[in-house]
Amino acid sequence: MLRETLWCLSAGVMFFSNPAAAQSPKPKTVLDGIYTDAQAKRGETAYNSNCAGCHGEDLTGRVMGPLRGDAFLNLWREDGLEYLFTHIKTRMPGNAPGSLPDATYLDVLAYILQVNTFPSGSAELTPGSVADIRFVGLGGPKPLSTNTLVRVAGCFAGSGARWTLTQATEPAKTHDAEKNTPEELKSAAAEPLGSQTFNLQNLEDLPPPFKAGDMLGHKVLAKGVLIRRPGNDSINVISIENLSPSCHP
Ligand code: HEC
Repeated sequence: MLRETLWCLSAGVMFFSNPAAAQSPKPKTVLDGIYTDAQAKRGETAYNSNCAGCHGEDLTGRVMGPLRGDAFLNLWREDGLEYLFTHIKTRMPGNAPGSLPDATYLDVLAYILQVNTFPSGSAELTPGSVADIRFVGLGGPKPLSTNTLVRVAGCFAGSGARWTLTQATEPAKTHDAEKNTPEELKSAAAEPLGSQTFNLQNLEDLPPPFKAGDMLGHKVLAKGVLIRRPGNDSINVISIENLSPSCHP
């Protein structure tokens, strides 16, 4: 409690004394009107000539996956919009990857956002702006769904019968579950613990020198596939690393 109060106080001081922080208190998201109607209109034309053949004129996925609706949003939300942009730009159209100009890929992305009923605004989506925008669902940020590749920090607990992560943070998306960058380790070590609990599965398949017993009571960073079951969430662990030998940072 005291720690939280102190954190709020210092964040408040930073907020008022740092003009940059005062201007952008929270990151932009796809809900903030980040493309224009004119851009989406151009995108519709480009979509119909380059994408509709495989994804359908109504984006419901004629041959390939849908580009609208919950299943699509669940796959890409709680992440930078640039990951979706890069996926489209480097892999699509499926039969001629990377063949369109960047500006056209941005127009098509604007059109996909419009069809998914994200609001338009007064500025176009550009290569610069796409890098700073978070993709969230229509209702705003939400916990990740089952089968997402995640990273979670928490306290390693339990015994051979059942290993768990307690006081765990909200799962966040990761793009590399095999290893951690120095920045990831640093920010996970500094991140306050949370209140979630996860079963840890698959630990017996991790390569030596990993020994579960050696991690008891440590603050760790686990990465793997999030499995949601009512009241019993697990992580199918792909990698796990020590952050601190104590769980009270
Ligand atoms: C020749 C068929 C074909 C065309 C044309 C095509 N795609 Fe795809 N698309 C695919 C296939 C196959 C996949 C699944 C494999 C993958 O994601 O790389 C896919 C996947 C995607 C995905 C990821 C979907 C998801 O949620 O997993 C997006 C986004 C996408 N396409 C957008 C586009 C856009 C935008 C265009 C037009 C610029 C386009 N595609 C044109 C075949 C096509």
